[in-house]
Amino acid sequence: MSKLHVFNHPLISHKLTNIRKVTTATKDFRETVNEIAGLMAYEITRDLKLQDVTIETPVATTTQKELAQEVFIIPILRAGLGMVDGINRLIPTAKIGHIGIYRDEETLEPKEYFSKLPQGLETAMNLVVDPMLATGGSAIAAITMLKARGAQTIKLVCLVGAPEGVEAVHAAHPDVDVYLASLDEKLNDKGYIVPGLGDAGDRLFGTK
Ligand code: PRP
Ligand code: URA
Repeated sequence: MSKLHVFNHPLISHKLTNIRKVTTATKDFRETVNEIAGLMAYEITRDLKLQDVTIETPVATTTQKELAQEVFIIPILRAGLGMVDGINRLIPTAKIGHIGIYRDEETLEPKEYFSKLPQGLETAMNLVVDPMLATGGSAIAAITMLKARGAQTIKLVCLVGAPEGVEAVHAAHPDVDVYLASLDEKLNDKGYIVPGLGDAGDRLFGTK
């Protein structure tokens, strides 16, 4: 059964408050989204697989641990792109796959328009990243696509989520853990998260 993990950390709470403010400029918004994503990734990757490796230090031969599993960062375009650099800074060897999905503004239905994914989805830890989990439609579609291509270990990483979206992801993909910096109150009648932070893609890229 999947789990919801909501980060309860003063640094994350403080940074999130900053990007919620309507007055926060694009540059600060973009930097802070990456900072939060990086902080979250440190904890989310706690169960990465390790293997023994024998190395020489300047003093002795010793058996130590190294990563035995790849990390794939898979942003849902566009807004997911805003989280990639922050995670990639922590895991420079991570490969990056892209899934293009936008939400139809009238129906709120997810529309897929692009995908380009690395080889090895079966064994990697696949981090699907998107700042916003609203109805859950976009995340569910992205996870469905990854599973169809063989992905086994998938984690959904969002900054702000609505209870409706969390429920929908749990129902559609009970094996996928959901990580949020904040679980907000609800969706409004336009499908925006309340209190939320507005349209994450527009705020990241300055398009509105
Ligand atoms: C936003 C957001 C998520 C989606 C969440 O993307 O980045 O992908 O909406 O909503 P949902 O949970 O109801 O599917 P949007 O469709 O605005 O596209 P964009 O990232 O290109 O701006
Ligand atoms: N997408 C966003 O960017 N913001 C919301 O509040 C909901 C969906």
